[in-house]
Amino acid sequence: MKRVLLIVSGGIAAFKALELIRLLRKAEYSVTCVTTKNAEQFVTPLSMQALSENKVFGALFSLTDESEMGHIQLSRSADLLVVVPATANILAKMAAGIADDLASTVLLATDKPVLVAPAMNMRMWLHAATQANMKTLRSRGVHVVGPDEGAMACNEFGPGRMSEPSAILVAIEALLNAPHPLSGRHVLVTSGPTHEPIDPVRYIANRSSGRQGHAIAAALAGLGARVTLVSGPVTVPDPAGVSVVRVETAREMLDACQRALPADAAVFAAAVADWRVANASDGKIKKQPGAAAPALELVPNPDILATIAAAGPSRPLVVVGFAAETDDLLANAQSKLIRKNADFIVANDVSPETGIMGGAENAVQLISAAGVEEWPRLAKEDVAQRLALRIAEALG
Ligand code: CTP
Repeated sequence: MKRVLLIVSGGIAAFKALELIRLLRKAEYSVTCVTTKNAEQFVTPLSMQALSENKVFGALFSLTDESEMGHIQLSRSADLLVVVPATANILAKMAAGIADDLASTVLLATDKPVLVAPAMNMRMWLHAATQANMKTLRSRGVHVVGPDEGAMACNEFGPGRMSEPSAILVAIEALLNAPHPLSGRHVLVTSGPTHEPIDPVRYIANRSSGRQGHAIAAALAGLGARVTLVSGPVTVPDPAGVSVVRVETAREMLDACQRALPADAAVFAAAVADWRVANASDGKIKKQPGAAAPALELVPNPDILATIAAAGPSRPLVVVGFAAETDDLLANAQSKLIRKNADFIVANDVSPETGIMGGAENAVQLISAAGVEEWPRLAKEDVAQRLALRIAEALG
């Protein structure tokens, strides 16, 4: 029997948690509830206990329960943690890593997948703080269902209404029964830009955010792969369940990739600087009054993808490269597939008007020896999910 740990936080939608418990029990899941102090203003622990047929761990009892159960054990004995409703407050605590009651401590201590069902007033949902928190949580692999749009308890109309319990049940079942086609596989992913020093304070870089590469690492881990993510300098958070190696330059990235081998598959999503500065200075370059600007002498960087994809015993079975182009997208991507010995090239048009570089969405074409597939414009997380599934398919 699969076990769901239901974290009920204090919002008007908390009453719907009762219906969800009923549906989960009917579908033969074991349900244990943890409530926040505010949740108990909306639903009684007694009703939750009666419906779940299990003890309810309330905020007030957290200290006494600690010796008996322990928040670590509670957070890990479940197959899935579900936050219903997820108020703006608990989402903010999760994003910030605050653990000041049993519910938030369990969420911080868990190594299990987490699903949140946000519910709040629409202005709170649309507030930049909540949106930034959701972005952080999604990038860490937290799953989200809803919110829906509709009439709210506060007489407003808009997004913020919690999904219906039946829809939350569908999301729970999808997560609990998700296949893990990549379990036992090791996948290497590169992500982000590289920084090539000019002197100790200046460098050459590019606009890559690392969002796409990090999302791919998260999606691969979600399918059960052990993932090594070699990342250039980025501000996006580390995906959950992925081992991250941080590097700055292209040469460091190549070195880290070679150390990570053997791998069953490798995805090269990093925007590696093609050149580095041969005459980089050890000391800060000073301007001299009246003197000419310094000339940078550039030399080519190693091609990481081509090096790792070169035929040999350590070549991963599936190698995926990216082609970021502004002109002749298809022709350039197809020639990259052959020139770099890749199995797939994910081609995207990074002309400034597309807003793709550094943006939240991507419109790609997947190129392989079998031909060209055009994918619709999707969130980078969805592109990552599709690509991860294709890699699983190719590995067989
Ligand atoms: N790549 C790499 N190492 C490099 C350069 C690129 O691993 N030194 C990888 C990228 O991660 C990407 C693919 O190669 O998967 C394509 O990179 P891109 O810079 O677009 O290709 P180039 O061969 O540099 O082609 P162009 O000069 O036409 O942009």
